Amino acid sequence: MSIQKPKGTQDLLPGEIEKWQYVESKARELCQRFNYREIRTPIFENTELFQRGVGETTDIVEKEMYTFEAKGDRNKPLSFSLRPEGTAGVVRAYVENKLFGEPDVSKLFYIGPMFRYEQPQAGRYRQFHQFGIEAFGSVDPSIDAEVIALGYTFYNELGIKNVTVDVNSVGTIACRDVFKLKLQEFFAPVKDQLCSDCQSRYDRNPMRILDCKVDQKFCEGAPTILEYLDEECTAHFAAVQEHLSAMNIPYRINPRLVRGLDYYTHTAFEYKAAGIGAIDTIGGGGRYNGLVGQIGGGSNDQPGVGLGLGLERTLLILQAQNVDLPVVKLLDIYLVGLGEAAEKEVTKQLQWLRLAGLKAEKDYLGRKIKAQMKSADRFKASYVAILGDDELERGEITIKSMVSGEQQTVKLDQFVAHMKSIKLN
Ligand code: HAM
Repeated sequence: MSIQKPKGTQDLLPGEIEKWQYVESKARELCQRFNYREIRTPIFENTELFQRGVGETTDIVEKEMYTFEAKGDRNKPLSFSLRPEGTAGVVRAYVENKLFGEPDVSKLFYIGPMFRYEQPQAGRYRQFHQFGIEAFGSVDPSIDAEVIALGYTFYNELGIKNVTVDVNSVGTIACRDVFKLKLQEFFAPVKDQLCSDCQSRYDRNPMRILDCKVDQKFCEGAPTILEYLDEECTAHFAAVQEHLSAMNIPYRINPRLVRGLDYYTHTAFEYKAAGIGAIDTIGGGGRYNGLVGQIGGGSNDQPGVGLGLGLERTLLILQAQNVDLPVVKLLDIYLVGLGEAAEKEVTKQLQWLRLAGLKAEKDYLGRKIKAQMKSADRFKASYVAILGDDELERGEITIKSMVSGEQQTVKLDQFVAHMKSIKLN
């Protein structure tokens, strides 16, 4: 039997990959405009990083990590995990490379695969890709708003409509400790009726019950975190909203918003859009003051804020909304050689065209002219140039526009320069 790809993974093939490239180039270009610089961290890290970073009581760390043992130094086995998200690794790299010593706020971005052992469904995979940004070193609410604005602009400029931005404040650990007690009080009478996951969340992380799909019926009337924010958190949240309004970013306050990762403080947000089956969250993020210290920054603890946007979900929404991404023209010109001498000349001209910066191709299968013209069509070539032995003797070549059908004959020694000038126009 032939070997198949692991469940929950995807092959991104030519035809589809051009859309990925376009979406990724939009992310990169946007990051340049917002002054975020790329960082690439390892795909696997010490398991402890995610336990400390993402949180030991999260589903991600408890159930969804791909963890393996491998030999470390002196053959002592070490536990590694494939990264389930990008923030923890970027925080580790920020600390390890002492980026906190830099005078400016460190504004970083990444694009890459993440791994979670989840039940696959439309929009949920075991290997998926995130475009993420992280900004370290500032507690200014304007940077929370900037991060939210960057994600919104990403969707907007790709042509995705009806994206809603849900924002909340999850306060500080101190606010949450009070809130957790209030939640436990609220859920105590129905504790035995909660799903088994939520029964264990009740003691360890009762906020996650609010996020449970199964137990929504028990959440009606539950207290909200906003009632338990202290003065500083309330002021920060109000300022984030003011900045969002100043930037014309539409948002909705959702006091029930709980993120699936433990590191958030103050601002938490999610982007939502309909169109991918049961899933409506396409991206999310928030502030994580304290995480840098927890991951090893020690006295160099620095505040941070960031986001992660799922690229598979972005592409699914683009498809669901029938957004046409700019079509990539694969070829400028397809060269057809008819006859032995002409074919040799084609090889030469092809190399010159390519060196001159044109996207150029020829046949490698010894096919008849009709089949070659079909190839030119499939590659969306703008021009076809046909060279027969007769023309070669006359030192000429015939160029045909695949758009207008017009033909013209040019001198062979001016052919590349001619094509280059057409391309430039
Ligand atoms: P997250 O909400 O766990 O946050 O993931 C962010 C996005 O990644 C999701 O909204 C979704 O689009 C995509 N995603 C997550 N899991 C899957 C999956 N199994 N299949 C397909 N797509 C998925 C984080 O990961 C945080 N690190 C975001 C962040 C950065 N917060 C601060 N900085």
